[in-house]
This record gives sequence, C-alpha cells and structure tokens, in this order.
Amino acid sequence: MKKKQLKHNILITAGPTREFIDPIRFISNPSTGTIGYILAQSAKRRGNDVVLLSGPTHLDAPVGVKTVCFNSALELKKCTDRFFDWADIIICTAAVADFRPAKISNRKIKKDNGLPEIKLVKNPDILKGLARKKKNKVLIGFALETENVVENSLKKLKSKNLDLIVGNLLSEKSVPFGKRQLTAFLIEGGNVKKHSKISKKMLARIILDRADKLCYILMQPKKGGKLW
Ligand code: C5P
Repeated sequence: MKKKQLKHNILITAGPTREFIDPIRFISNPSTGTIGYILAQSAKRRGNDVVLLSGPTHLDAPVGVKTVCFNSALELKKCTDRFFDWADIIICTAAVADFRPAKISNRKIKKDNGLPEIKLVKNPDILKGLARKKKNKVLIGFALETENVVENSLKKLKSKNLDLIVGNLLSEKSVPFGKRQLTAFLIEGGNVKKHSKISKKMLARIILDRADKLCYILMQPKKGGKLW
C-alpha cells in the first residue's frame, strides 16, 4: 500500500540577489535558481502548498506554485518575514549576497569622475534570523563551498541552528551553477550522507523526504522517532 504523505506549507527561496550600486549596475553571483525551482515543483506535485521566493532567473515559474520575486537581500528578508508564520518547512537555496553597497547612487556613476569608492555594509543573515524563532518548523539551508565542504557545512548547520544542510563543492572540476547534476552532502546533527553525481531532481526528492520526516519528528517531540 502506498504511504500517505502529509501535506505541508513549504517556503522555498531560490536564485541570486542583486545589490544595486547605481540604477544600472549591481553586485550579484551566478546562481541560476535551478535547485530551488526543482524543489518547488516537486513539493507541489506531492500535494504540498508551496510559496517560492525567487531572485532574478530565466526559469519558468513552477506550475501551481505562488512565486514572489525579489532583487536584494533586504527584499528577500521582507518576503521571508511575510510567509514565516504560514510555513512548516523552509528551504533556503538562495545565494544571498553577504554585503551590499552602503549607498545606492540615484544616477549612473560616471567613469570620468575618477575611481569610485564603494563602501559595503553587511546584509542580515536571513536564514539565521528565521532559525532564531523557528520553534517546531523545519529549516533547511544550502552551503556552496570551495574547500572543506563537510567541515564548513557542519559549522553552518550549527551556527545557523538548522535541521539539515546540503553542502556542495565548487572547484575547477565541478561548477554546480545551472547544472542538472551535482555531488551533495546531506548533513543532519553529526550525520553526513554523500550523494555522488546525483541529479538535482533526485536530490530534491531526498531533501523533501527528509523534510517530511523531520517535520513529523519535530511536531511530536514527546514521541521522538528514529531519524534515519
Ligand atoms: O552564504 P552562506 O554559505 O552562509 O549560506 C548558507 C545558507 O544561508 C543558504 O541556505 C543561504 O540561503 C542562507 N543565507 C541567508 N542570508 C544570508 C546568507 C546566506 O539566508 N545573508
């Protein structure tokens, strides 16, 4: 008999942020939003209610998923605050800029005025902020690392107080941006599972299965339950 899946409210962030310097230039990164969009579509197909917060991408909005667009980290923060109470599961795949220009020039900065000095200020760590008030919500983060992927992801899992982190490596040989396949490390507590050359579709299924299980466990703290 097919196991009945519980329906959840799932909030997913995806894609890059853009931190504008002037009206036509910004600081950003090469995130394409693929894994967040695949997660959103898979979560919807499983019968969940899904809200996708998306940075600028070229991807088509997933069918049946409420999609809200953002540009900057501060806009993303406003969106996550808006949907926080509604969500049971929050999956943050967005590549959020850690810094933004302190001031956005309202006119194009001209090159003949000499080299501009762009002062940066820190963006809030959105996921960390959500985790501070998480209660029994399931919070999942992503970490893209250029070295020591497991150690660095573990550190983020702990410092951000997450239930699960998905670590992956960016190296000369492996650039995950926009690819359909990657090598990922799923880390919960002290438990690390490596998934080599897995498709993003399959990875999304595994993450959503874990999220389901974690949700069940967190909602029944007295009963506990086996994690794996
Ligand atoms: O950038 P970092 O490696 O710390 O990102 C890890 C996780 O934290 C990701 O899930 C990302 O979406 C989230 N994050 C965030 N706000 C930031 C930086 C990262 O929510 N300012």
